[in-house]
Amino acid sequence: MTGDVMISLKNVSKVFDSAEGSAAVHDLSMDIVRGETVVLVGPSGCGKTTTMKMINRLVEPTSGEITVNGTDVMKQDPVELRRGIGYVIQSIGLMPHRTIAQNIATVPELLKWDATKVKQRVAELSDILELDEALLGRYPNELSGGQRQRVGVARALAVDPPVMLMDEPFGAVDPIVRERLQDQFLDLQDRLKKTIVFVTHDIDEAIKMADRIAILNRGGVIEQFASPEEILRSPANDFVKQFVGVERGLKRLALLKVSQIGIEEGPVVSPEAPIRDAERAMEKFDYDWCSVVEDGELLGWVDRESLGGCLTVAEAQARPFSAYVTHDSTLREALDSIVTSRTQVAVVASGGQRYVGILSLERISKEIIS
Ligand SMILES: Nc1ncnc2c1ncn2[C@@H]1O[C@H](COP(=O)(O)OP(=O)(O)O)[C@@H](O)[C@H]1O
Ligand SMILES: [Mg+2]
Repeated sequence: MTGDVMISLKNVSKVFDSAEGSAAVHDLSMDIVRGETVVLVGPSGCGKTTTMKMINRLVEPTSGEITVNGTDVMKQDPVELRRGIGYVIQSIGLMPHRTIAQNIATVPELLKWDATKVKQRVAELSDILELDEALLGRYPNELSGGQRQRVGVARALAVDPPVMLMDEPFGAVDPIVRERLQDQFLDLQDRLKKTIVFVTHDIDEAIKMADRIAILNRGGVIEQFASPEEILRSPANDFVKQFVGVERGLKRLALLKVSQIGIEEGPVVSPEAPIRDAERAMEKFDYDWCSVVEDGELLGWVDRESLGGCLTVAEAQARPFSAYVTHDSTLREALDSIVTSRTQVAVVASGGQRYVGILSLERISKEIIS
């Protein structure tokens, strides 16, 4: 991984109760690059939260060294340190007797920003996180779980910290709201480029959110630290394989774009062409159908049966493809298009209906097993 290191853990261990002997985190080393999202994922009790809390010193390491932006966290004033690190947790921890606006303003007020600036920042954050103005005067218990979670994120972002620690931030909301929060957060991160450590026990959430995933075993042992695509393509060992679970191939297809693999040539004919041309195109590719393309525009498809008795392709009236994919579609979408279409291939078009080519099942399978 290239780029400059924002958070570095070197041989970090944490033993909570020395009498008990076993370390919650044992000899963990990991570098996190500026602007990336690293997701820590692993079974309950494997040391994810402990690892995260050592970064902002809510827990102090028993041994080892942690630096944030080049400075040893143990040599920094903890309050100062935490101002540069936004922290979002599952239970959110909003103060019940303070309004939403007051909750978001917590750190700016601690820093004694003037009232106008605080107000502006609260307005800006509610805008970014799509929190309705009307919510700002309410109290936390008057909000839905998803809204509260967004307030938690807004509060963590209040003084624009370069680092965010997020401990199962979307764990407490239902799956639909959760997906929306994830999408919204990905959009936000696209713009803000924070360095993020994100904890979850949900591998699908990890795959979706991460630039890199660290799969942890008991004692904070890293079993694999790699991009989601690499983890799905070549899990380092049985633990990772089991953790990633079933449908590894399909999950990987969802991460790959059509533009990343070679698009194939397919049978094409123009509407003015004689039937013979359509037949030749079908024979060449060994299909019983053919795309109809006029000046680069995809009109649809015809098959042998529909051409019967016609003189030109146009007479046969091309039928529209029920679905086609673009360079930006995922291979999973392409696969869906293949299995649901009569032609058994995915047709690739760009900029509206410009014909590009096709993707066959064989082509995509090759990608899964490579
Ligand atoms: N404050 C604490 N005191 C004693 N043991 C703790 C404390 N916090 C966590 N542990 C123990 O450390 C281990 C790792 O916990 P944690 O980091 O919370 O795991 P995770 O977040 O992966 O579920 C567990 O065995 C847990 O019981
Ligand atoms: Mg935890």
